[in-house]
Amino acid sequence: MEDESSEKRNSARLAIIELANMISVPMSLQAIVRLNVADAIWQGGVNSPLSASEILSAVDPTGRGDPENLQRILRMLTSYGVFSEHIDHFDNSSVRKYSLTDVGKTLVSDADGLSYAPYVLQHHQDALMRAWPMVHEAVMDSTTEPFVKANGEPAYLYYGKQAEMNGLMQKAMAGVSVPFMKAFLDGYDGFEGVERLVDVGGSAGDCLRMIVQKYPKIQGINFDLPEVVARAPKIPGVTHTGGNMFEAIPDADAIFMKWILCTWKDEECKQIMENCYKVLPPGGKLIACEPVLPTHSDDSHRTRALLENDIFIMTIYGAKGKNRTDLEFKQIGLSAGFSQFRALYIDYFFTVLEFQK
Ligand SMILES: C[S@@+](CC[C@H](N)C(=O)[O-])C[C@H]1O[C@@H](n2cnc3c(N)ncnc32)[C@H](O)[C@@H]1O
Repeated sequence: MEDESSEKRNSARLAIIELANMISVPMSLQAIVRLNVADAIWQGGVNSPLSASEILSAVDPTGRGDPENLQRILRMLTSYGVFSEHIDHFDNSSVRKYSLTDVGKTLVSDADGLSYAPYVLQHHQDALMRAWPMVHEAVMDSTTEPFVKANGEPAYLYYGKQAEMNGLMQKAMAGVSVPFMKAFLDGYDGFEGVERLVDVGGSAGDCLRMIVQKYPKIQGINFDLPEVVARAPKIPGVTHTGGNMFEAIPDADAIFMKWILCTWKDEECKQIMENCYKVLPPGGKLIACEPVLPTHSDDSHRTRALLENDIFIMTIYGAKGKNRTDLEFKQIGLSAGFSQFRALYIDYFFTVLEFQK
């Protein structure tokens, strides 16, 4: 038996306790979003450190809240890099104050009301939470994802029937997509010469809105499920079209898609890509932005974000939907008929995968 007082055993016991308590992290993050703490600290860009009592009086006019419990959450999330802690010392006491780090600032609403906060909320709605205790079932029976076992139907069908979930999903997608698209459009020049572009699974049309703003000659077709495009706002230069990408995709001389293929199993991805291939002219491009897995499993933030998101997909969207390596994506694309492939690493999370007919 190993010596339990050794540094190795001590570290191992600590690490497993940390992992066993990990649920505190996303749940507390969700609490911070529900309480609107980031906007309270930000206050028009001031970001000056506030105590839990000061934050509470900004977010809770009833005065019923418990500042000590808020401080417990702020302290824990400080250790995860969401807040910076500043301790003011007095003669016999001290006050802890909190400002936002760069990570915390991603939760602050911009002028259009967008941030990563809806993405945090979207991930922790009751219907999704019901699926999480069944992750092991995705191992024992991969024919159905835990979300279906918990809720009786697939996630997109479920969201589509509930206006609030549908709306939150669109807000979550916009909050994540807009900052990515800014970086993507700065670093990618593959839309030159394109006149008619379809965004497959384009949600509310935010990605296309940004593309046509930069390339006004492009006629944009935002293609998504009928119940999703029914809620999409009017966007100059963009037509919303409802349909099912497994049946047919509107004609285009280039196709864009973001965060689509990872949700589906290999045969389904092949079918989506074959439907794209059919409508593209010779030399036409499918530009897919997807989370791409590294080959090695290390403990970097990037690898963790990608692998954690992979388990999210397995649990919520498809037991055999998955994040893939660029080689795996390439193989599916070639099997769907595409002849050329390149991967561009512009963003840490989404990789640009270009397939040419
Ligand atoms: C993860 S979201 C990505 C949204 C958007 N592309 C973005 O990145 O912000 C996936 C999108 O695929 C759409 N979708 C799901 N099944 C679809 C189908 N069969 N045909 C067309 N769109 C579909 C969903 O409604 C949703 O908007």
